[in-house]
Amino acid sequence: MHNIDIELVEMTLDVMKYVINRITKTSPELGQPKKEEELKALVGETITSEGIGGEKAFQLFRDVLVKATVPIDHPRHLAFVPASPTRAAIMFDLVTSASSIHGAYWMEGAGGIFCENEAMHWLVSLTGMPEGSFGVFTSGGTAANLSAMVAARENWRQDPINNDRKGIIIASVGAHSSVKAMAKVMDAEILLVPSEERMDAGDLNGLFQQLTKEKQERVFAVVATAGTTNAGIIDDLNGIADFCENQNLWFHVDGAYGGGALLADSVRHLFKGIEKADSITIDPHKWLFSPYDCGAILYKNPEIAKAAHSQEGSYLEIFKDEGAHGFNPSDYQIQLTRRLRGLPLWFSLAMHGVEKYKWAVECGITLANTAGAFITKDDHVELVREPSLSCVLFRRKGWTPDDYRNWTYENHRKGFALVTPTKWKNGDEFETVARFCFINPDTTEKDILDILATMH
Ligand SMILES: Cc1ncc(COP(=O)(O)O)c(C=O)c1O
Repeated sequence: MHNIDIELVEMTLDVMKYVINRITKTSPELGQPKKEEELKALVGETITSEGIGGEKAFQLFRDVLVKATVPIDHPRHLAFVPASPTRAAIMFDLVTSASSIHGAYWMEGAGGIFCENEAMHWLVSLTGMPEGSFGVFTSGGTAANLSAMVAARENWRQDPINNDRKGIIIASVGAHSSVKAMAKVMDAEILLVPSEERMDAGDLNGLFQQLTKEKQERVFAVVATAGTTNAGIIDDLNGIADFCENQNLWFHVDGAYGGGALLADSVRHLFKGIEKADSITIDPHKWLFSPYDCGAILYKNPEIAKAAHSQEGSYLEIFKDEGAHGFNPSDYQIQLTRRLRGLPLWFSLAMHGVEKYKWAVECGITLANTAGAFITKDDHVELVREPSLSCVLFRRKGWTPDDYRNWTYENHRKGFALVTPTKWKNGDEFETVARFCFINPDTTEKDILDILATMH
């Protein structure tokens, strides 16, 4: 199977033909999930002792299996946080795979890590973090948040009094589920400011002052969100930064979704204070048009992250040697062996330049505001809150949660759109509402109007 033969040539042509077709389709078929038994019945045994051949395996994938997936870049896929990788980034993902580079250590990955670092310098410059700040690309926002929180706790445990104490993280109800899940992974406690609206220093101080002195001493980090997943809300980063400085707490900003909007002149002012963060998560696979998977974690003081994450082993010592000197991405986050997942972003940025990225991010914000204006004019629906970044929450007057669910399934079943409901706290109750999240600059005003029409 490592031979170079006619089967390899044919398989390569199949793959290239598929890739070219796929990336030039602006409205790919919106696939549907099928039950595992149904898929099995359609494809039969795929793993056999002699192999089924490249042609057959590829045909099963192309004609059956990929049709049971939802293309994240469909212009009417407005659910969750969608994505819309540039064609250049997708093509360079293939190049990244073909190049077989180990991305953990400079000794093996220098030229590729250099490219990632070019993109990382640019990301750091977007945030306005001080000289010396730097970071690495991760598998996503979850791994980035975990890497930052572990660095924060190790830093707090520099004081031996904290060695045997369970640390506490403060976030808000609006924080992403990964923050809560990763607190569990690292066995930290998490306290949540009980509002999904914009968290400010007053909210934070209110919660902090209610804690006993012993608990206050166990708090080691605050996680603010720069673009909540549900509603695109940016916390009061400046006020929270000052609170953290006064209380000597690590200030982490989760901009996994919203961080891309640092590029947008129309909303940049909302991020004031992000430059004071100790660490920031930004996911290029969300609003910076990279293919999955590509997150990033940025640190004000990378040496703290290195002290927390650098792995040791006799087989790794050569990498730390002077002869292998250079930047080792594995020292700054939880993963050792890693793909050079920042390469597609680097190539696409280098090819297109920053201005096109700015334009594409502004498109998402404009689409959200346009949708807001359409909803205001439409008698059947109303805004739950003003659009924020590229998120729009709205209700269909008179609908029950079942109506929203049926509407979602119906649009998906028809292959028309994937728009899912969410919940929003209305007084003491959680109300089911509809939500748009725009990323793809190919989404049109007509797409929005057509989706709203399905609610009439
Ligand atoms: C604000 C925020 N943080 C973290 C995450 C988790 O990122 P990932 O799914 O890349 O691990 C998300 C995902 O939507 C998010 O929106």
